[in-house]
Amino acid sequence: MAGSTFWLVVLLGMFGSLLGFILNHFLPLMLLRLNGSPPPKGSFGWPILGQTLAFLKPHPSNSLGAFLQHHCSRYGKVFKSHLFLSPTIVSCDQELNYFILQNEGKLFECSYPKPIHGILGKSSMLVAVADTHKRLRNVAVSLVTITKSKPEFLSDIEATTISILHSWKDKSQVIFCEEARKFTFNVIVKQVLGLTPDEPQTTRILEDFLTFMRGLISLPLYIPGTPYARAVKARRRISSTVKAIIEERRRQAAETSTNSSRSKRSDFLEILMDVDTLSEDEKVSFILDSLLGGYETTSLLINMAVYFLAQSPSALQQLKVEHQNIRRGKQKDEYLNWEDYKKMEFTQNVINEALRCGNVVKFVHRKALKDVKFRDYLIPSGWKVLPVFSAAHLDPSLHASALEFHPWRWEKIQSQDQTCKRFTPFGGGSRCCPGSELGKLEVAIFLHHLVQNFRWRTEDDDQPIAFPYVEFQRGLPLHLEHCPIN
Ligand code: HEM
Repeated sequence: MAGSTFWLVVLLGMFGSLLGFILNHFLPLMLLRLNGSPPPKGSFGWPILGQTLAFLKPHPSNSLGAFLQHHCSRYGKVFKSHLFLSPTIVSCDQELNYFILQNEGKLFECSYPKPIHGILGKSSMLVAVADTHKRLRNVAVSLVTITKSKPEFLSDIEATTISILHSWKDKSQVIFCEEARKFTFNVIVKQVLGLTPDEPQTTRILEDFLTFMRGLISLPLYIPGTPYARAVKARRRISSTVKAIIEERRRQAAETSTNSSRSKRSDFLEILMDVDTLSEDEKVSFILDSLLGGYETTSLLINMAVYFLAQSPSALQQLKVEHQNIRRGKQKDEYLNWEDYKKMEFTQNVINEALRCGNVVKFVHRKALKDVKFRDYLIPSGWKVLPVFSAAHLDPSLHASALEFHPWRWEKIQSQDQTCKRFTPFGGGSRCCPGSELGKLEVAIFLHHLVQNFRWRTEDDDQPIAFPYVEFQRGLPLHLEHCPIN
C-alpha cells in the first residue's frame, strides 16, 4: 500500500512538473495560435530557462553582443524569446522602445524580476507601479529640484572631487573603478543623508550597501550565507541605520525647537522628514532608492568618460582647453558655479557620447498589460517586454560610425526632439531617471579637475563588459602623470 502511494505521489509529481513545463513553455505559443495575430518571429530556446543564459552572456558594453547580433540579423529588430522565466518580446527598435516607455501604466508596466522586489522592498520606487509610483516619484522630482537650488549643492560635489584627487598626489597608479565609486558614494551620501566620509555611519552604510548591491546581481536563493540572503539582511540594517538617523534628527529638532537660529540641513532626508504623503517605510525606501540609483550608475559613467577619453587624445585636448578657459576666469581656489557649468558645452558632448558608447543601462524590464498591436505584430498580454537601449545607441542607421567614440557628433544635434528616441540612457516617459542632471553634473565637475591635473593611460586588456550590469574586469587601472595647472 505504502509502495503504491509512493508511486502515486511520484506520478502526480511528474505530471505536475510536466504540466508546469507545458504551461510555462508551450501555452504562450498555443494561445498565440488561437488569437490569430502573429507575434514577432523568434525562438523560445530551452524549456524553462529559455535563452536567458545566452542573453546574459558577457560582451563589451560598446557592442551589441552575440545574442542580439544573431537574433536581429535572423529575425529583425523585434523578436520573441523566453527570458527570465517568461515569454518575452525583445525590442532593439527605437520606435518600439519609445512607444513602450511612453505607454507606461497604460499598455506596459515596469516589471523587474521578483527576487529584486525581495531585496528592494515593496515601497521602492524602482519597482512600485501605478499610484504608489506616482506619489513616490512626485516627491523625488521635487526633492531633486529643491536640492539643486541650494548653494552648497555644487560646492559639496566639488569638495568631494578635490579630496579624491588630492589623495592621488603621491600615486602613479589608481584602480579607477574604486576611486569613482568612492567619489559617487561620498557625494550621494552627503546629498541624501548629510553624512561626510569620516563619520562612522558612512562606513557602516557603505559596507551594508555593497553587500546589498552584490545581492541584486546574485542567484536569488534565500539560504543563510548566500549573497542574496545577505543582501536582504543588509537592507534591513541600512533601514535601521536610516531610521536611527531620522530619530536622532527628530530629537535634536525637539530640543532646539525654541531656538529659531537652528540652522536647517540641506539634504534629502531633512526635506523628506517634513513630507506627509509618505509613510516611514516609504521614506526609508526612498533613501535607499536614491543611494542605489545614484551610486553605481554615476560611477560607471565617470569610468566610461575616463576610459573613452584615454583613447581619444583630440577629445581630451579639447576638453582640457574648455576647462582651462573656465578656470582662467576665476580666482585660484574659487569654486565652480552654475554659470561655469553652463559653459561646459564640449563636456556635455563627451558625457553624452560616453553614455551612448558605454551603455550604463543596457535595457529595462517591462510587461505588456494587454494585447498590444504594434506595426503588424502582436505583443501578447502578460509577456515580458525588454526595450534594449544599447541597440538603438549602437545602430549605424541612427548614429553615423556608431561604434566610434566621437563627441563632436553631439554638436550638430540642435534639439532634444531629434534624439529622444535614439538616445535613451536615462530611460523615458513617466519613469525617466529623476537623477539624470545630478549624475551628469557630478561627472562634469569631476572631469573639470581631473583633466587639468592629470594625464592618464588605461591598459589594453581592460574594457567595459556588460554582464549585463557593466563592469571593468580589472577595475580600470589608470597610470597617472601629474600635470599641475599652468
Ligand atoms: C548618470 C547615471 C545614471 C544613469 C545612466 C541612470 C539611468 C536610469 C534609467 C535608465 C532609469 C529608468 C529605469 C526604468 O525605466 O526602469 C533610471 C531610473 C531611476 N534613477 Fe537613474 N540613472 C543615473 C543616475 C541617477 C542618480 C544620480 C539618481 C539619484 C539621485 C538616480 C535615481 C533614479 C531613480 C530613483 C529611478 C527610478 C525612477 C522611476 O522609476 O520613476 N539615477 N535611471
